[in-house]
Amino acid sequence: MSSETDSSLPTVAVFGLGIIGSRCADQLLNQGYHVKTWNRTPKERADSESDPISAAEGADYLAFYLKDGIALREVFSSIQNQLKPSQTVLNHSTVDLETTKWLAEQCEEIGCSFLDAPFTGSKVAAGQGALVYYVGGDSEVLESARQVLEITSKEIKPLGPVGSATVVKIATNLISASTVQALAEALAITNAYGIQPEVLTESVASNASGSVLASMKLPTMAIGDYDTHFSLENMLKDSRFALQLAGDAGLETPGIQATSAAMEAQCKKGHAHLDFSALFKAYDTA
Ligand SMILES: NC(=O)c1ccc[n+]([C@@H]2O[C@H](COP(=O)([O-])OP(=O)(O)OC[C@H]3O[C@@H](n4cnc5c(N)ncnc54)[C@H](OP(=O)(O)O)[C@@H]3O)[C@@H](O)[C@H]2O)c1
Repeated sequence: MSSETDSSLPTVAVFGLGIIGSRCADQLLNQGYHVKTWNRTPKERADSESDPISAAEGADYLAFYLKDGIALREVFSSIQNQLKPSQTVLNHSTVDLETTKWLAEQCEEIGCSFLDAPFTGSKVAAGQGALVYYVGGDSEVLESARQVLEITSKEIKPLGPVGSATVVKIATNLISASTVQALAEALAITNAYGIQPEVLTESVASNASGSVLASMKLPTMAIGDYDTHFSLENMLKDSRFALQLAGDAGLETPGIQATSAAMEAQCKKGHAHLDFSALFKAYDTA
């Protein structure tokens, strides 16, 4: 890996240097891209710009890794008058569907290209350039952005028009949140009956319910390690997006409703910034 800039490569502006954006900016830098970054809370980085307009200026690609739709609308609104049709906006933040549609409309008015490109993969995957992007949008725009997206990902999944990736991302996070709630309940029950956590972890691994998520989260919940890969408050936000999508479609979704309430309760107890596996704190008496 080199940190020397290759002038033949496009310039990428990264907005949002949280768990994921900071690691993606590093990956792009290490692969020779000219990177400009901006974060609401200033970060000590050589590529930091003091305001979003300076970060956007001259960038071929604008990659957003912000918390939610509110943040995305705020930041985008502050730069949109400066954007040019030659620029491409890549939204990687998990936002509500209305915000994705709003952003697509704003980009269309400006004439710049846009991809609805949320991702799966967490802190470790981001640090390895191994995210998986779900992409909604024009296939030609995707092909022109592919080289940039590949730096931070191991897989790119085109899903259809703008909005399709947002909906799939929210739906898959419904599964992850519900799964971790189920794992927390199972761990609480097996603990109560004197069964060692390793026994549950191994048994789940041999069960049809076994998953990468279960193998990651069961061992850490069992020892009360809630180091943040994906925060509880961000998963709570996504559960609310799922409830909104379900409600708008006239669907009852009691499972995610209960899990969302459990996450809200833990956030109110001061655990918002812990990993979302802090759902187990409802049972963790250590
Ligand atoms: N971590 C994961 O495993 C994962 C996986 C899939 C998808 N995602 C999604 O990817 C996005 C980024 O995730 P993350 O884990 O990197 O989140 P994070 O660590 O919570 O970082 C959030 C970023 O958003 C910024 N932000 C929040 N509110 C803002 C506002 N009003 N205006 C401007 N900036 C604002 C924060 O800036 P400050 O530093 O100033 O607070 C920070 O840079 C989120 O939408 C998340 O749901 C994350």
